[in-house]
Amino acid sequence: MQISTKYAESNVNIGETSCIPVMPTRIVPDMQDDVCESLLNRPRSLSPKYFYDERGSELFDQICSTPEYYPTRTENTLLTEYAVEIIDKTRPEQILELGSGYSVKTRRLFDACQHISHSCTYAPFDVCEEALVESAQKLSKEYQWLDLKPLLGDYHGGLGNLPATQGSHLYLFLGSTIGNFEQHEALAFINELYDVMREGDHFLIGIDRVKKNDVLHAAYNDAQGITAEFNLNVLHVLNRELNANFDINAFTHSATFNTEKERIEMRLTSIRKQEVKINDLEKTIHFDKDESILTEISQKYTYSGIEEMLTDAGFSITDHYEDDNQYFSLVLASK
Ligand code: SAH
Ligand code: TRP
Repeated sequence: MQISTKYAESNVNIGETSCIPVMPTRIVPDMQDDVCESLLNRPRSLSPKYFYDERGSELFDQICSTPEYYPTRTENTLLTEYAVEIIDKTRPEQILELGSGYSVKTRRLFDACQHISHSCTYAPFDVCEEALVESAQKLSKEYQWLDLKPLLGDYHGGLGNLPATQGSHLYLFLGSTIGNFEQHEALAFINELYDVMREGDHFLIGIDRVKKNDVLHAAYNDAQGITAEFNLNVLHVLNRELNANFDINAFTHSATFNTEKERIEMRLTSIRKQEVKINDLEKTIHFDKDESILTEISQKYTYSGIEEMLTDAGFSITDHYEDDNQYFSLVLASK
């Protein structure tokens, strides 16, 4: 495939909503390469981006409203309280959101725009096309003034091809998705964003804080079992995409807090010795009883850890918003 412009010639069309594909600036391994590299070798792991097929995005959305999952509620409260201040300070011509999902909390910023009669472009960037299309359709009705530009792509492919406007930008990375990166990858990613930003642009990032084990444990082990279903859904994705034969009932969900690394580690554990065929790769995986796959990490940060990461990446911290419990941080930074 030859691509001469930053975007492919034709947009991806679903109904009336079309997503603009963002071309990677470096080679991104596909699912087959990733699985060969991380799942076929020990210790076994999987990239979290494979969670988010249509079902996975719906399940994640449900996790966000479980009583145990405090991050969404807390971040939403902070946004409700400070959105007007943030929009007034940044006055973005374009809001670009990394890993936007259904853009639920982002609405607090659009409400603030409305409140101070500021209009802008919104470019949600996600790997899940269904989530992008569905939320763009809803947003276009709820906020008719909003100029929508849904971007479909993988942020691990580089940020150099993100669309820019003449005016200033507000980049968002909410939901503590940065916690799903290893710490050195998180710094590299934020630094890469810093490099594509222009002077006067802002970055608003939501980061989950270190806290008591029981609060964290509950958040990733909800009583209704939605997190477990979300975790197991990745096996359905592999069955469908790679023609594999995972028996979903032969794996269990676990999420535990690693106190030394200060992160939640989510795994799928084989309940018995078993073989799984990955037909498209012509490979068989031999699982021992109790052998697990690391499917996600969720790093928790102290405020000084957050400060260090952002300043090491080059940013100046403009404002830090946190709740009374200090469960979650929303940081506005600038270049
Ligand atoms: N921002 C939302 C959703 C967070 S869940 C919130 O705060 O609730 C993480 C989101 O990142 C999902 O929508 C997922 O599809 C997206 N995502 C995960 N890996 C990605 C990748 N490599 N490139 C782009 N988007 C990705
Ligand atoms: N960014 C979210 C977090 O780390 C992602 C997340 C929440 C998640 N719950 C999950 C990912 C359960 C996988 C499974 O909190």
